[in-house]
Amino acid sequence: MNTQEEEATEEEITISPPESIKRIAISTGGGDAPGLNAVIRSAVLCAMRRGWECIGIRDGYNGLLTPEQYPRGGTILLDHEKVRGITHLGGTIIGTTNRGNPFSYPTLGKDGTLHEVDRSDELVEKIKDLGIDALITIGGDGSMRIAYDLCKKGLPIVGVPKTIDNDLDKTVVTFGFDSAVSFATECIDRLHSTAEAHRRIMVIEVMGRYAGWIALNAGVSGTADAILIPEIPFDIEKVAERTRERVRNGKMFSIIVVAEGARPIDGQRYVIDREIGRAERLGGIGAAVSQQLQELTGQESRHVVLGHLQRGGQPTTFDRLLSLRFGAAAIRALDEGNAGVMVVLDPPTVQYVPLYQATRRMKTVPLDSDTVITARDLGISFGD
Ligand code: F6P
Repeated sequence: MNTQEEEATEEEITISPPESIKRIAISTGGGDAPGLNAVIRSAVLCAMRRGWECIGIRDGYNGLLTPEQYPRGGTILLDHEKVRGITHLGGTIIGTTNRGNPFSYPTLGKDGTLHEVDRSDELVEKIKDLGIDALITIGGDGSMRIAYDLCKKGLPIVGVPKTIDNDLDKTVVTFGFDSAVSFATECIDRLHSTAEAHRRIMVIEVMGRYAGWIALNAGVSGTADAILIPEIPFDIEKVAERTRERVRNGKMFSIIVVAEGARPIDGQRYVIDREIGRAERLGGIGAAVSQQLQELTGQESRHVVLGHLQRGGQPTTFDRLLSLRFGAAAIRALDEGNAGVMVVLDPPTVQYVPLYQATRRMKTVPLDSDTVITARDLGISFGD
């Protein structure tokens, strides 16, 4: 056993739900992603078949930590009626937030400024007081780390990996990613004709935080000329040269896909703001790249930020099915006495891995991945 494996074993938590579960709770945390409702429906139906009652906690854990903000209470009974006809719907019927970390909960101090307060013990007490035997938490890396820390405080939790960014480790893919990539690809397709008609450079900024999965997969599928991702810092002159080369070859337009977390070799990531109690917001690189390319090449350039459109709308069939499978697997995990785990896609099956293992590192694009190699073979530039 190597050192890393020893560390993992030391930090893994062994926690089981009670043998006879009566009531479970479901929460959705972080930015929304297409497929959340399908997971909720699947988990609720599978739980009810076992005779378990399901409670939805509103807006991450806010429903329990600030129940006074909800006219009809901060929790909701999830039954057949509540989850009927929601498989194909975007968003989440129980709400979500990326400002609800119970370990560093944003709280207004007497001086009128926001502080981070650890309210995790209070949350654990509230969950126990409600007679909740186990929790299913659907979220991204932040939510899984919170789940891991709550497990250490004695809460049996099963995590379900959600994020359009696809940056959660140990699962081949997270639900929401396929929907975001499909949408971004369609947008790139649409931008080709207008770029060609105006002989312009068109720069498309996509989400993905510190990972380039959306940019890479949509960029290759949408036949971009350059793809800029956080994993490969770029030289803007190399990108400019790619567009000049196209003009020399009689192709008078270029399509450049930029991940919001990409950065130039000699510069920083573009950050919109940093707020107490939430992750930094990225954005702005699309506009900067567009302007620099226009200056360097003399060719007219425009930029488009796809933004939250990538998170909205219906989940693709792939994401619906994956979400339904994840929801069912989360309930099976509890039924089999497993907690402190996250469900993962390990084709062809869905498995469980300890939350600790799933939260140790961010899954970024490997530079030797087949998709990166394919892109290079196709002549797509990464600006390196
Ligand atoms: O993590 C999902 C994600 O959509 C990222 O791609 C993006 O950086 C972030 O969330 C945006 O968050 P917000 O909803 O706070 O604008």
